[in-house]
Amino acid sequence: TGALERAVAAFRAGEPVLVHDADDREGETDLLYPASAVTPATVARLRNDGGGLIFAALPATVADRFDLPFLHEAVDHPANDHTDLGYDAHPSFSLTVNHRDGFTGVTDDDRALTIRRLGEVSADADYGVDAFADEFRTPGHVHLLRGAPGLLDERRGHTELGLALAEAAGVAPAVAGCEMLDDETGGALSTADAEAYARRYDLPFVEGAALIRALE
Ligand code: 5RP
Ligand code: CA
Ligand code: ZN
Repeated sequence: TGALERAVAAFRAGEPVLVHDADDREGETDLLYPASAVTPATVARLRNDGGGLIFAALPATVADRFDLPFLHEAVDHPANDHTDLGYDAHPSFSLTVNHRDGFTGVTDDDRALTIRRLGEVSADADYGVDAFADEFRTPGHVHLLRGAPGLLDERRGHTELGLALAEAAGVAPAVAGCEMLDDETGGALSTADAEAYARRYDLPFVEGAALIRALE
């Protein structure tokens, strides 16, 4: 079976997938999980093996249900200008959140609780902004990302690639992830090294372009 089939099967089983966006975009590989499958050990892996920013992406429909805006549309500050952003029209950042049952919010237990519950409630059509505010606070230690409404037709970031993979796998519409950084250079992990990591742990590695082609 191909990498794409393996990636869909992995997500369906709650297992991670490595996704490289494109050489002419960020040129980064993210380690992605279905949010509902995230445990404290998952968060430890994201920060130790990934090392970038740990996030949870939600599709626009779900983000709207929780009243979660794009941060760049909600903030009035002169630094909020993305005209010089090299790789896309705007970032997908929304609010940061913590689950109210955590303590500081940053520990593996706390972030796993925040992310796993986001996964669970993302699939519940009756769960709205009031329930969300009862359960989560902002600001917090998990970065929420908002998918473009048109998903891959509109934007081709890891946000949309991960959410499209979750949709294809039929899992809850919430994806956790982190960029893979190189501990030697501090830069983004090269595609060759990300593929080597995938082989070492027997994880699917997919190119954004292949994912887009297969899901179109
Ligand atoms: C948040 C980011 C990452 O690049 C993440 O992959 C999501 O962003 P994008 O959809 O732009 O790729 O900036 O850590
Ligand atoms: Ca590391
Ligand atoms: Zn990215």
